[in-house]
Amino acid sequence: MEWVKVFAPATIGNIGPGFDVLGLAVQKLGDVIEARKIQSGVKISSIVPAGSDVNLSTDPEKNTAGIAARETLKILEVRGGVELRLEKGIPLGSGLGSSAASAAAAALAVNCLYGNELTKEELILPSTRAEEVVSGGFFADNTAPALLGGATLTRSCLPLDVTRIGSIKRLKIILVTPDTVILTKEARKILPDKIPMKDFVFNMANTSLITAAFAKDDYALFARSLNDVVIEPVRAKLIKGFDQVKENALKAGADGMTISGSGPTVFAITDRLSKARLIEDAMVRTFRQFGTKTFHLITAVDPEGARVIN
Ligand code: HSE
Repeated sequence: MEWVKVFAPATIGNIGPGFDVLGLAVQKLGDVIEARKIQSGVKISSIVPAGSDVNLSTDPEKNTAGIAARETLKILEVRGGVELRLEKGIPLGSGLGSSAASAAAAALAVNCLYGNELTKEELILPSTRAEEVVSGGFFADNTAPALLGGATLTRSCLPLDVTRIGSIKRLKIILVTPDTVILTKEARKILPDKIPMKDFVFNMANTSLITAAFAKDDYALFARSLNDVVIEPVRAKLIKGFDQVKENALKAGADGMTISGSGPTVFAITDRLSKARLIEDAMVRTFRQFGTKTFHLITAVDPEGARVIN
Protein backbone atom coordinates (compact mmCIF):
# COMPACT_ATOMS: atom_id res chain seq x y z
CA MET A 1 0.00 0.00 0.00
CA GLU A 2 1.23 3.48 -0.83
CA TRP A 3 2.18 5.96 1.87
CA VAL A 4 1.03 9.56 1.85
CA LYS A 5 3.08 12.22 3.67
CA VAL A 6 1.41 15.27 5.22
CA PHE A 7 2.77 18.34 7.03
CA ALA A 8 0.78 20.50 9.48
CA PRO A 9 2.21 23.74 10.88
CA ALA A 10 2.63 24.97 14.44
CA THR A 11 0.03 27.51 15.55
CA ILE A 12 -0.41 30.42 17.91
CA GLY A 13 -3.86 29.96 19.43
CA ASN A 14 -5.07 32.06 20.85
CA ILE A 15 -3.70 35.28 19.44
CA GLY A 16 -3.61 37.63 22.46
CA PRO A 17 -7.09 38.79 23.47
CA GLY A 18 -8.94 36.36 21.17
CA PHE A 19 -9.15 33.62 23.79
CA ASP A 20 -10.31 30.36 22.20
CA VAL A 21 -11.36 32.14 19.00
CA LEU A 22 -8.34 33.63 17.17
CA GLY A 23 -5.56 31.37 15.89
CA LEU A 24 -2.62 31.69 13.52
CA ALA A 25 -0.46 29.23 11.59
CA VAL A 26 3.30 29.85 11.56
CA GLN A 27 6.12 28.77 9.27
CA LYS A 28 9.25 26.67 9.99
CA LEU A 29 7.75 24.38 12.66
CA GLY A 30 5.29 21.53 12.33
CA ASP A 31 4.50 17.82 12.50
CA VAL A 32 4.79 15.31 9.68
CA ILE A 33 2.64 12.22 9.33
CA GLU A 34 3.05 9.36 6.91
CA ALA A 35 -0.05 7.24 6.48
CA ARG A 36 -1.19 4.21 4.54
CA LYS A 37 -4.36 2.21 4.28
CA ILE A 38 -4.72 -0.96 6.33
CA GLN A 39 -7.67 -3.33 6.55
CA SER A 40 -9.21 -1.92 9.70
CA GLY A 41 -8.64 0.24 12.77
CA VAL A 42 -6.00 2.84 13.49
CA LYS A 43 -2.42 1.91 14.25
CA ILE A 44 0.48 4.20 15.16
CA SER A 45 3.58 2.24 14.19
CA SER A 46 6.22 4.82 15.12
CA ILE A 47 6.76 8.23 16.69
CA VAL A 48 9.87 10.34 16.34
CA PRO A 49 9.63 12.83 19.22
CA ALA A 50 10.51 16.52 19.12
CA GLY A 51 13.44 17.16 21.47
CA SER A 52 13.18 15.33 24.76
CA ASP A 53 9.43 14.60 24.73
CA VAL A 54 8.80 11.32 26.48
CA ASN A 55 5.07 11.40 27.00
CA LEU A 56 4.00 10.36 23.54
CA SER A 57 1.79 7.34 23.35
CA THR A 58 1.49 5.06 20.33
CA ASP A 59 -1.90 4.00 21.69
CA PRO A 60 -4.16 5.54 19.02
CA GLU A 61 -6.77 6.38 21.67
CA LYS A 62 -4.27 8.45 23.64
CA ASN A 63 -2.66 10.32 20.77
CA THR A 64 -4.44 13.13 18.91
CA ALA A 65 -3.21 11.77 15.57
CA GLY A 66 -4.88 8.43 16.29
CA ILE A 67 -8.11 9.97 17.56
CA ALA A 68 -8.38 12.39 14.61
CA ALA A 69 -7.72 9.53 12.19
CA ARG A 70 -10.46 7.44 13.80
CA GLU A 71 -12.93 10.36 13.77
CA THR A 72 -12.17 11.14 10.11
CA LEU A 73 -12.66 7.50 9.09
CA LYS A 74 -16.00 7.58 10.91
CA ILE A 75 -17.19 10.66 9.00
CA LEU A 76 -16.01 9.20 5.68
CA GLU A 77 -17.98 5.98 6.43
CA VAL A 78 -15.38 3.85 4.65
CA ARG A 79 -14.37 0.27 5.22
CA GLY A 80 -10.72 0.16 6.12
CA GLY A 81 -8.27 1.65 8.51
CA VAL A 82 -4.99 3.50 8.61
CA GLU A 83 -1.43 3.06 9.81
CA LEU A 84 0.39 6.22 10.90
CA ARG A 85 4.03 7.15 11.40
CA LEU A 86 4.38 10.38 13.31
CA GLU A 87 7.35 12.73 13.24
CA LYS A 88 6.95 15.47 15.84
CA GLY A 89 8.45 18.86 15.09
CA ILE A 90 6.61 20.67 17.88
CA PRO A 91 7.27 19.80 21.53
CA LEU A 92 4.23 18.87 23.63
CA GLY A 93 3.03 21.42 26.16
CA SER A 94 4.85 24.30 24.45
CA GLY A 95 1.81 26.43 23.54
CA LEU A 96 2.45 25.99 19.82
CA GLY A 97 -0.40 23.67 18.95
CA SER A 98 1.57 20.42 19.10
CA SER A 99 -1.43 18.15 19.61
CA ALA A 100 -3.48 20.10 17.05
CA ALA A 101 -0.79 19.74 14.37
CA SER A 102 -0.71 15.96 14.84
CA ALA A 103 -4.49 15.84 14.67
CA ALA A 104 -4.73 18.07 11.58
CA ALA A 105 -2.02 16.14 9.73
CA ALA A 106 -3.65 12.79 10.53
CA ALA A 107 -7.12 13.98 9.47
CA LEU A 108 -5.78 15.32 6.17
CA ALA A 109 -3.77 12.15 5.53
CA VAL A 110 -6.81 9.90 6.07
CA ASN A 111 -8.93 12.10 3.82
CA CYS A 112 -6.26 11.96 1.14
CA LEU A 113 -5.98 8.15 1.32
CA TYR A 114 -9.76 7.73 1.09
CA GLY A 115 -10.62 9.85 -1.93
CA ASN A 116 -10.44 13.46 -0.66
CA GLU A 117 -14.18 13.49 0.01
CA LEU A 118 -13.94 16.11 2.76
CA THR A 119 -12.86 19.74 2.58
CA LYS A 120 -10.22 21.09 4.96
CA GLU A 121 -13.04 22.95 6.75
CA GLU A 122 -14.79 19.61 7.33
CA LEU A 123 -11.61 18.17 8.83
CA ILE A 124 -11.66 20.78 11.62
CA LEU A 125 -14.34 18.85 13.54
CA PRO A 126 -12.53 15.47 13.76
CA SER A 127 -9.26 17.27 14.56
CA THR A 128 -10.89 19.34 17.29
CA ARG A 129 -12.56 16.25 18.81
CA ALA A 130 -9.07 14.79 19.16
CA GLU A 131 -7.74 18.02 20.66
CA GLU A 132 -10.60 17.98 23.18
CA VAL A 133 -9.48 14.64 24.62
CA VAL A 134 -6.05 15.96 25.58
CA SER A 135 -6.78 19.62 26.37
CA GLY A 136 -9.94 19.42 28.42
CA GLY A 137 -11.80 21.93 26.23
CA PHE A 138 -13.46 22.03 22.82
CA PHE A 139 -11.84 24.90 20.90
CA ALA A 140 -10.53 25.19 17.35
CA ASP A 141 -8.04 28.04 17.65
CA ASN A 142 -5.16 25.63 16.97
CA THR A 143 -6.78 22.97 14.78
CA ALA A 144 -8.41 25.46 12.37
CA PRO A 145 -5.27 27.44 11.48
CA ALA A 146 -3.22 24.21 11.39
CA LEU A 147 -5.58 23.03 8.64
CA LEU A 148 -6.49 26.25 6.82
CA GLY A 149 -3.35 28.36 7.28
CA GLY A 150 -3.31 32.10 8.00
CA ALA A 151 -5.44 33.43 10.84
CA THR A 152 -8.79 31.88 11.69
CA LEU A 153 -11.73 32.88 13.84
CA THR A 154 -14.15 30.54 15.61
CA ARG A 155 -17.68 31.93 15.91
CA SER A 156 -19.15 28.85 17.57
CA CYS A 157 -17.89 25.46 18.72
CA LEU A 158 -21.19 23.61 18.71
CA PRO A 159 -22.07 23.61 15.89
CA LEU A 160 -18.54 24.28 14.74
CA ASP A 161 -18.39 27.50 12.72
CA VAL A 162 -14.90 28.67 11.78
CA THR A 163 -13.73 31.07 9.13
CA ARG A 164 -10.29 31.76 7.68
CA ILE A 165 -9.58 35.48 7.94
CA GLY A 166 -6.35 36.08 6.02
CA SER A 167 -2.69 36.84 6.53
CA ILE A 168 -0.31 39.70 7.22
CA LYS A 169 2.63 39.44 4.85
CA ARG A 170 4.98 41.90 6.60
CA LEU A 171 4.54 40.28 10.00
CA LYS A 172 7.67 38.88 11.64
CA ILE A 173 7.01 36.69 14.67
CA ILE A 174 9.66 36.08 17.31
CA LEU A 175 8.83 32.82 19.10
CA VAL A 176 10.64 32.06 22.33
CA THR A 177 9.91 28.80 24.13
CA PRO A 178 11.22 28.35 27.69
CA ASP A 179 12.32 24.79 28.48
CA THR A 180 9.34 24.17 30.76
CA VAL A 181 6.05 22.43 30.03
CA ILE A 182 2.63 23.94 30.69
CA LEU A 183 -0.31 21.64 30.08
CA THR A 184 -3.30 23.40 28.52
CA LYS A 185 -5.60 21.54 30.91
CA GLU A 186 -3.79 23.07 33.89
CA ALA A 187 -3.49 26.56 32.33
CA ARG A 188 -7.28 26.60 31.80
CA LYS A 189 -8.07 25.68 35.40
CA ILE A 190 -6.56 28.92 36.72
CA LEU A 191 -8.63 31.25 34.53
CA PRO A 192 -11.36 33.38 36.15
CA ASP A 193 -15.04 32.43 35.79
CA LYS A 194 -16.14 36.05 35.78
CA ILE A 195 -14.47 39.19 34.43
CA PRO A 196 -15.25 42.91 34.82
CA MET A 197 -17.33 44.46 32.03
CA LYS A 198 -14.57 46.96 31.16
CA ASP A 199 -12.09 44.09 30.58
CA PHE A 200 -14.63 42.29 28.42
CA VAL A 201 -15.12 45.42 26.28
CA PHE A 202 -11.37 45.99 26.01
CA ASN A 203 -10.60 42.42 24.91
CA MET A 204 -13.59 42.34 22.55
CA ALA A 205 -12.44 45.56 20.83
CA ASN A 206 -8.88 44.30 20.43
CA THR A 207 -10.04 40.87 19.19
CA SER A 208 -12.27 42.53 16.60
CA LEU A 209 -9.45 44.75 15.40
CA ILE A 210 -7.01 41.84 15.10
CA THR A 211 -9.62 40.16 12.92
CA ALA A 212 -9.84 43.31 10.77
CA ALA A 213 -6.04 43.51 10.63
CA PHE A 214 -5.73 39.98 9.21
CA ALA A 215 -8.60 40.58 6.79
CA LYS A 216 -6.97 43.80 5.52
CA ASP A 217 -3.35 42.60 5.69
CA ASP A 218 -2.72 45.60 7.97
CA TYR A 219 0.36 45.16 10.16
CA ALA A 220 0.01 48.52 11.96
CA LEU A 221 -3.54 47.70 13.06
CA PHE A 222 -2.44 44.30 14.37
CA ALA A 223 0.45 45.93 16.25
CA ARG A 224 -1.95 48.34 17.97
CA SER A 225 -4.38 45.57 18.90
CA LEU A 226 -2.21 42.86 20.46
CA ASN A 227 -3.43 43.64 23.99
CA ASP A 228 -5.00 41.22 26.45
CA VAL A 229 -6.07 42.28 29.93
CA VAL A 230 -7.96 39.07 30.80
CA ILE A 231 -5.88 35.96 30.13
CA GLU A 232 -2.29 37.23 29.92
CA PRO A 233 -2.05 38.65 33.46
CA VAL A 234 -3.22 35.33 34.94
CA ARG A 235 -1.14 32.97 32.82
CA ALA A 236 1.95 35.21 32.94
CA LYS A 237 2.42 33.99 36.51
CA LEU A 238 3.16 30.50 35.13
CA ILE A 239 6.10 31.84 33.09
CA LYS A 240 9.14 32.82 35.16
CA GLY A 241 10.36 36.31 34.18
CA PHE A 242 7.41 37.07 31.86
CA ASP A 243 7.07 40.75 32.84
CA GLN A 244 10.77 41.47 32.40
CA VAL A 245 10.92 39.56 29.09
CA LYS A 246 8.00 41.63 27.80
CA GLU A 247 9.51 44.88 29.03
CA ASN A 248 12.83 44.10 27.33
CA ALA A 249 11.16 42.90 24.10
CA LEU A 250 9.28 46.22 23.88
CA LYS A 251 12.44 48.18 24.72
CA ALA A 252 14.26 46.33 21.92
CA GLY A 253 11.59 47.52 19.48
CA ALA A 254 8.81 44.93 19.53
CA ASP A 255 5.35 46.29 18.77
CA GLY A 256 3.75 43.78 21.15
CA MET A 257 4.39 40.58 23.07
CA THR A 258 2.10 38.04 24.65
CA ILE A 259 1.69 34.33 25.40
CA SER A 260 1.15 31.82 22.61
CA GLY A 261 -1.85 29.66 23.50
CA SER A 262 -1.57 28.43 27.03
CA GLY A 263 2.22 29.00 27.07
CA PRO A 264 5.02 28.76 28.00
CA THR A 265 5.96 30.02 24.50
CA VAL A 266 5.76 33.79 24.20
CA PHE A 267 5.79 35.69 20.92
CA ALA A 268 6.73 39.23 20.00
CA ILE A 269 5.98 41.04 16.76
CA THR A 270 7.67 43.46 14.39
CA ASP A 271 7.66 44.09 10.64
CA ARG A 272 11.44 44.35 10.24
CA LEU A 273 13.87 41.42 10.22
CA SER A 274 16.80 43.47 11.59
CA LYS A 275 14.65 44.49 14.56
CA ALA A 276 13.39 40.94 15.00
CA ARG A 277 16.94 39.74 15.65
CA LEU A 278 17.50 42.37 18.34
CA ILE A 279 14.16 41.55 19.98
CA GLU A 280 14.91 37.81 19.91
CA ASP A 281 18.28 38.43 21.52
CA ALA A 282 16.76 40.61 24.27
CA MET A 283 14.09 38.03 25.07
CA VAL A 284 16.48 35.09 25.15
CA ARG A 285 18.96 36.98 27.34
CA THR A 286 16.25 37.99 29.78
CA PHE A 287 14.97 34.45 30.13
CA ARG A 288 18.57 33.35 30.71
CA GLN A 289 18.86 35.85 33.59
CA PHE A 290 16.02 33.91 35.21
CA GLY A 291 17.92 30.65 34.69
CA THR A 292 15.63 29.58 31.84
CA LYS A 293 16.98 28.01 28.66
CA THR A 294 14.95 28.64 25.52
CA PHE A 295 14.28 27.43 22.00
CA HIS A 296 13.81 30.47 19.75
CA LEU A 297 12.94 31.26 16.19
CA ILE A 298 11.98 34.15 13.92
CA THR A 299 9.11 33.13 11.72
CA ALA A 300 6.13 34.43 9.71
CA VAL A 301 2.55 33.48 8.92
CA ASP A 302 2.05 30.14 7.16
CA PRO A 303 -0.73 31.02 4.71
CA GLU A 304 -1.31 27.46 3.49
CA GLY A 305 -1.86 25.19 6.50
CA ALA A 306 -1.77 21.40 6.38
CA ARG A 307 -0.59 19.98 3.07
CA VAL A 308 0.54 16.82 1.33
CA ILE A 309 4.30 16.94 0.83
CA ASN A 310 5.06 13.87 -1.30
N1 HSE B 1 -7.26 28.54 23.46
C1 HSE B 1 -6.59 27.51 24.19
C2 HSE B 1 -6.11 28.09 25.50
C3 HSE B 1 -5.49 26.97 23.35
O1 HSE B 1 -5.51 29.17 25.48
O2 HSE B 1 -6.36 27.47 26.54
C4 HSE B 1 -4.47 26.20 24.04
O3 HSE B 1 -3.47 25.76 23.15
